[in-house]
Amino acid sequence: MKILVIGSGAREHAIVWKLKQSPRVKEIFAAPGNAGIKDLARCVSIAADDLEALVDFAKKEAIDLTVVGPEVPLVLGVVDVFQEAGLKIFGPNKQGAMFEGSKAYSKAFMENHHIPTAKYKEFTNLDSAKEYVDMFGFPLVIKADGLAAGKGVVICENHEDAMDTLDKMMQDKVFGDAGSKVVFEEFLTGIEASILCFVDGKTIKPMASAQDYKKAYDNDLGLNTGGMGAYSPSRLFDETLKAHVDEEILQPFMKGVLSENIDYKGIIFIGLMIEDGQAKVIEFNCRMGDPETQVVLPRMENDLLDVLEACVDGTLEDIDLKWSDKQAVGVVMASGGYPEAYEKNKLIKGLDQVDAIVFHAGTKADNDQVLTNGGRVLTVVSLNEHLSQARAHSYKELEKINFEHMMYRTDIAKSQC
Ligand code: AMP
Ligand code: GLY
Repeated sequence: MKILVIGSGAREHAIVWKLKQSPRVKEIFAAPGNAGIKDLARCVSIAADDLEALVDFAKKEAIDLTVVGPEVPLVLGVVDVFQEAGLKIFGPNKQGAMFEGSKAYSKAFMENHHIPTAKYKEFTNLDSAKEYVDMFGFPLVIKADGLAAGKGVVICENHEDAMDTLDKMMQDKVFGDAGSKVVFEEFLTGIEASILCFVDGKTIKPMASAQDYKKAYDNDLGLNTGGMGAYSPSRLFDETLKAHVDEEILQPFMKGVLSENIDYKGIIFIGLMIEDGQAKVIEFNCRMGDPETQVVLPRMENDLLDVLEACVDGTLEDIDLKWSDKQAVGVVMASGGYPEAYEKNKLIKGLDQVDAIVFHAGTKADNDQVLTNGGRVLTVVSLNEHLSQARAHSYKELEKINFEHMMYRTDIAKSQC
């Protein structure tokens, strides 16, 4: 089969790497891909949000299955556009992608279907939002409703913070239209974990759990990032918690989707806050997590193509997902300054010395050299029966890699985060 993978991150590199292991995959294309993906797939310079060019390319190349990595094309409706053109594509349609595209939509869905989550209230008017600030108490979580590249959530410690955040989101439009509506949420305490699930329109099956480290620096200091590392399975996910999450969250999600006639196929990624053995949903995302995917897919023992096709064809019930007993630890190497301003075009040395899986994100090829091309640059992943050894191996191997101003956390899989 001919496959097209949309995206250019380490998540997409992991998807391509896993699909490449399928005996049924003949050729993989990536749009636009990166310097690591280039070794496994043919990269075509089409942006992930250029729906028209993507569908034209898929028609021209007679692509058998397209796999969408990031949220932006999903929220724009890439799945609907491909389906209208008679092309097979893995991911939720525009309506399904609303779970990530609108936090207010997602909260209303959870309320309607009794899925445990933080209390909330939505506002489209700045003055009304400001009047309500002191009624919620502090810390107060304020979220831009729409997509904001992971930056649209602010935890406000006091009245001034909240006023300032509302001005920035609703008046100054720092997140554009995404901040025209905001959601206030009660602040949840506990430990976060991510659960990624496959969905085929009627059945939901969780993948192995993972834990992401979102803050830029060790000991959870610094700004929130896309994720600085992850490990799988999460220590928190014992059988009791798994059963609890299935009963209280996954099954109600699926029932809710069916009762609202949402044809949800693809991935639902659920961000959870866990406290005293109870889980509450922080957010839904409509695609795989990054860096969660980089530690989950290497543990998967199924042929990924079989699973993706089962989701599209509505036969997920027949698939028995299997996971390696090995634990995986992935450490993200980023450009100094990330998640704020950083420099690009730094020469990456030592990649050929590394004895671990290296998934590329912000990299680009320049003749025989690889240069940095983004904030998160690489994820170095190791597997071992013991978490501490997988962790030690990733850190030993990543020391062989060097680029100017590189940074990484030294406590991935060590603390609970
Ligand atoms: P989100 O984009 O909704 O996942 O939020 C980004 C991050 O903000 C989460 O991973 C949490 O660390 C934090 N966060 C979001 N909502 C809440 C909440 N209600 N209580 C505490 N922390 C939150
Ligand atoms: N690691 C969090 C995310 O992908 O949104």
